[in-house]
Amino acid sequence: MKLQGAHVVVIGGSSGIGLATARLAREEGADVTIVGRSQEKLDQAQRELGEVRPVVADIADEAAIGQVFESLSRVDHVLISAGTIRNGALVNNDLETLRHIVNERLWGVTYAVRHAAPRMHEGSIVLTSGTLSSRPRPGTAMLSAMLSAVETLAPALALELAPVRVNAVTPGLIDTPLLENAYGSERESLLQNRAEVLPVKRVGTADDVAQTMLMLMTNPYMTGEVLHIDGGGRLV
Ligand SMILES: NC(=O)c1ccc[n+]([C@@H]2O[C@H](COP(=O)([O-])OP(=O)(O)OC[C@H]3O[C@@H](n4cnc5c(N)ncnc54)[C@H](OP(=O)(O)O)[C@@H]3O)[C@@H](O)[C@H]2O)c1
Repeated sequence: MKLQGAHVVVIGGSSGIGLATARLAREEGADVTIVGRSQEKLDQAQRELGEVRPVVADIADEAAIGQVFESLSRVDHVLISAGTIRNGALVNNDLETLRHIVNERLWGVTYAVRHAAPRMHEGSIVLTSGTLSSRPRPGTAMLSAMLSAVETLAPALALELAPVRVNAVTPGLIDTPLLENAYGSERESLLQNRAEVLPVKRVGTADDVAQTMLMLMTNPYMTGEVLHIDGGGRLV
């Protein structure tokens, strides 16, 4: 019970990596708050997880994120895994979409950290990036730039917020509902092709990443780190 008595807030906790981390945190004895935009998804997650506190908020909405933390008397660990995939070339994409990416990935993280940190005395914040940070593809320029920013924020904030620890995780291809939303009918072939080339011969699961999230919350000597959980994807 490594998190007995701790309060863990998972922004993006109703699905995928966040949901899997919320489950592991519950198993380790934590009180858990899960945050997402959809009440329906939060209700479903609550049915799966049992005793958790669901809160509706969009990470890109500063007032809403402020309210999430104002309502909490204690915060020990925060995982920020909220995020959607919106692609499109920088030159052709409409500015609203590009701004959405920045608002969700950079300003959203900023809002969450600014409201969480004053309530934390120690513990940790874990940010979520993605391999597009170092391996952009045509159509991902803004998202790739924002994920790189997230990876830079982790060590910078580890210094600013010390002794609160700040780390980032960079997942490779992970089979979660995100892929269904982002790739639709291409999802299956994407997973199959990637599994064939990865050294581990399979794509990742939400639980693979959640184990790392939990390790970063519970290892008191880890800070300023960016960990890649990608089945060796960077090597091939
Ligand atoms: N799956 C992958 O292959 C992969 C690879 C690299 C990086 N990542 C990153 O890992 C993170 C988690 O991905 P996942 O695969 O677990 O995705 P997921 O299954 O779609 O879960 C995303 C979670 O974040 C919430 N969310 C999305 N946008 C939000 C917003 N604006 N404000 C608040 N909550 C929001 C979602 O709930 P609502 O929709 O109800 O808001 C959901 O709970 C994302 O940042 C993603 O980019 C994923």
